[in-house]
Amino acid sequence: MKPKVFATHGLFAPARALLERHFEVDYWAGEPRPPRDELLRRVAGKDALICLLTEKVNDELLDHSPNLRIAATVSVGYDNIDVAACTRRKIVATHTPGVLDDTTADFAFALLMAIARRIVEGDAWMRSGAWPGWNLDQLCGSDVSGKTLGIIGFGRIGRAMAKRAQGFDMRILYTDAMRAAPEVERDLHAEYVDRDRLLAAADFVSVHVPLLPETRRLINASTLKQMKPGAYLINTSRGPVVDEAALVAALDAKQIAGAAFDVFENEPKVHPALVARKDVILTPHIASASVETRTKMALIAVENVIALFDGRRPPNVLNPEVLAAK
Ligand code: DGY
Repeated sequence: MKPKVFATHGLFAPARALLERHFEVDYWAGEPRPPRDELLRRVAGKDALICLLTEKVNDELLDHSPNLRIAATVSVGYDNIDVAACTRRKIVATHTPGVLDDTTADFAFALLMAIARRIVEGDAWMRSGAWPGWNLDQLCGSDVSGKTLGIIGFGRIGRAMAKRAQGFDMRILYTDAMRAAPEVERDLHAEYVDRDRLLAAADFVSVHVPLLPETRRLINASTLKQMKPGAYLINTSRGPVVDEAALVAALDAKQIAGAAFDVFENEPKVHPALVARKDVILTPHIASASVETRTKMALIAVENVIALFDGRRPPNVLNPEVLAAK
């Protein structure tokens, strides 16, 4: 008998085909996401769970799934998984790093360009039919070339962002809990500074940290005050890294010029005061959403699950101690 998997999404055809060769699969096919009680009901009796970042894998869920051997999230961020709770129950947790760095950095840079050059405002004006024709001072934004980019979080995606900024002759500052190796700094023309200096100097601040207790509301009223007047804030990491109410206040006070966000504190909700503003761009958590990348992410999650049931080490395990203990 094949082991049983609950997948909280229909995934993409190549991932589905691979999964079904090895497992008996129950998919959540509804829209948008499974209600919690449905998730708890369907995961009961399953050997593996493939989930998205919208599903909280915590003690409550694990209590409902005594046979579960692996929880595989189709995301690089894994703040939806209580890894310690999985470890306590000897359940392997996995994620999907490495395949979405370029796609996410492309999008973060696109947001940076779009907010600086007022592309969304321009598009809305054209569609409204109200554009009166060309004039010298219409929708003047800010240059990007030659400006200073401050990258908070210099992991794979932060570094991919730096690579893109090089093409625009930007000065690149970064801050991170760990300083990068000298050859990385040299190759990316990136200068390590502390957060205070970065905030004071950057024309664009782009956030690329995971959501951890120490990064929650990392951008708050006081860090926003430290930003250079006229600077822009880009967030493609996790919503709770920014205090949205403080952001609204900073925009109202014209402390910063604008913000472009792909992630939100209380997804799918957005702070109501952000919605009407022209100085922000809001996108629905799609930074990694290319067909190629999302397909790769789904395949990686499936491969993690297959590896475990084949007796191999899943390539992207978050709690290797569970495997070591076996
Ligand atoms: C992730 O993978 O963590 C993103 O937020 C979705 O791609």
